[in-house]
Amino acid sequence: MELHGLLSYTFFLFLIAGNFTPEFTISKSIHRHINRPTKLFVFGDSYVDTGNNPKSFASSWKPPYGLTFPGKPAGRYSDGRVFTDYLARFMGIRSPLPYKFRKYAPNKLRGGLNFAFGGTGVFDTGNLQPNLTTQIGFLQGLIKDGVYTKRDLKSSLALVAVSGNDYGTYTSTGGSEQGLPSFISKVVNQMAIDLKLIHDTGVRRVLVTTLQPIGCLPTVTVTSSYQQCNESQNSAASFHNQLLQRAVMTLNNNTKDSSFLILDIFSAFNTALKSKRDFTGNSKLKPCCIATSSDANCGSLDENGKALYTVCKKPASTFFWDTVHPTQAGWRAVYLTLRSSLNRIFL
Ligand SMILES: *[C@@H]1O[C@H](CO)[C@@H](O)[C@H](O)[C@H]1NC(C)=O
Ligand SMILES: *[C@@H]1O[C@H](CO)[C@@H](O)[C@H](O)[C@H]1NC(C)=O
Ligand SMILES: *[C@@H]1O[C@H](CO)[C@@H](O)[C@H](O)[C@H]1NC(C)=O
Repeated sequence: MELHGLLSYTFFLFLIAGNFTPEFTISKSIHRHINRPTKLFVFGDSYVDTGNNPKSFASSWKPPYGLTFPGKPAGRYSDGRVFTDYLARFMGIRSPLPYKFRKYAPNKLRGGLNFAFGGTGVFDTGNLQPNLTTQIGFLQGLIKDGVYTKRDLKSSLALVAVSGNDYGTYTSTGGSEQGLPSFISKVVNQMAIDLKLIHDTGVRRVLVTTLQPIGCLPTVTVTSSYQQCNESQNSAASFHNQLLQRAVMTLNNNTKDSSFLILDIFSAFNTALKSKRDFTGNSKLKPCCIATSSDANCGSLDENGKALYTVCKKPASTFFWDTVHPTQAGWRAVYLTLRSSLNRIFL
């Protein structure tokens, strides 16, 4: 499973897009508890990246990505907002600026930063983007430079999403089925090390997502014409999540105020996909943006610039956007399912 799509390394010319931080009207009724964190630091992959990957190769910077929000490609792997944006909205802050834009908008660092890069894992996944430990190093560097103080970190929340790129790389580099359980435990052990590194910087609370039911991703379900999830892959995800649960308990045993919290994306995806059909009768496992040939992806063009993909009429009524990523509507559904646990976390 490849969360980063087709990679091609061309010369990286970077233009500053005008509108890369989403604006939300923040409801006045948001209950601001005294302990409510005011900064969000984000680590991980395309499920939470809001624009760090280079424009030269990332599909997130090509049409039709960004179609719904902000109306043009803006570095998110979706037609619009991703989970990060909804969590920031919940916190009553702006969605944190992608790390790579920090120099262009030094006045926008107060709400935190997003260090996530699409396609990455806890280990290197071959896309030459910073792995989780390196992303944490970026925050450590900013702390060393005095950009964030101990006090800032005390009022901070970290969001960590590891959504399966390590497993995609494991499979595509010939990893065996029998070796998978021990590789899963290697991944989770490295996650635990990284979660502790984040907490050691002084960040007060660290939220980590469970692995989504990877057997339900369109890249897998395409073999059944989007009719059936692959249960053996979902079991592997459950195993990852059990180990993660245990690792988080151990981490909390060693800190005084339950600083580590699990956000159960796995269950939220399952809830959203429970009824297998949307109201138009289409399978919910079928994505909105579909490549028209097997070697193309959503966003690919042929040599004449003609799209090698089709886009559904109503992204707002599909859960999946492309072969592995939810639509904005999908993320919103996931967020709404998780909101009650977020409320408990923020009490
Ligand atoms: C993360 O990347 C760095 C720099 O490439 C590398 O030295 C390190 O070994 C990687 N960490 C893991 C856990 O693979
Ligand atoms: C589910 O995925 C596994 C591992 O990728 C594969 O070996 C198996 O054939 C798949 N099962 C079905 C029913 O497609
Ligand atoms: C956490 O600590 C409790 C009480 O000391 C102990 O019973 C439990 O086994 C520990 N759990 C883990 C996962 O370390």
